Amino acid sequence: MQATFKIQRYNPEKDKKPYWAEYTLEVDAKDRILDILHTIKWEMDGSLSFRRSCAHGICGSDAMMINGKNRLACKVLMMDLGTTTVTVEAIRGLPVEKDLIVDMKPFFDSYEAVMPYFIGDAVPPATEYIQSHAEEKIIDASTKCILCACCTTSCPIFWVNGQYLGPAAIVQAHRFIFDSRDRAGAERLEILNQTTGDWRCRSAYNCTEACPRDIPITEIIGQVKRALMYGTA
Ligand code: SF4
Ligand code: FES
Repeated sequence: MQATFKIQRYNPEKDKKPYWAEYTLEVDAKDRILDILHTIKWEMDGSLSFRRSCAHGICGSDAMMINGKNRLACKVLMMDLGTTTVTVEAIRGLPVEKDLIVDMKPFFDSYEAVMPYFIGDAVPPATEYIQSHAEEKIIDASTKCILCACCTTSCPIFWVNGQYLGPAAIVQAHRFIFDSRDRAGAERLEILNQTTGDWRCRSAYNCTEACPRDIPITEIIGQVKRALMYGTA
């Protein structure tokens, strides 16, 4: 079948503003959007720029807005879209470097701000930290994050206030705050208690809908809010 791809293009070094470029090509219902973008780049227009690496939903590098929703291009098939007209735009709220490539630094600055690493006892156990299955279950969902930014860049609060740490950073903080072996939960909660943190969330659920890993992000943000109020972490 024939499909029309409308891709938002923008090269800040040359273009005054973003514009739509249109490509019409033969596709299969089982083609992934990433494969079709490759065909466009390799056979029709080599100047088209986008990020990708693993092509299997693991690295999180090909987040883009496809028909108005944030998704990983490697995880969406033509037949998932139910239309042969496809719009592709860069994820929102981060500066566009070129076409579908955005500057991820502000996103990773927020990630870094929540101390996304394990902090154990001053004197570690002689053998290993023991964690029960029940304790692991509490952080199981948040350990699945691949830092794709689909959530944060679909959040209306982040769009209007880039200082908000955003859902991805909160998911990463949750992963350690609720880890029974970690000892720096209180410090991370203090960070999330600031005006740039958890309380900015208005439960729009855009993040939860956008997450390619099906992480219940809004629920996780709610768990952190309860920990901030009642000190349960
Ligand atoms: Fe991506 Fe989901 Fe992690 Fe957000 S929580 S960065 S949408 S994997
Ligand atoms: Fe790695 Fe899509 S290319 S997640």
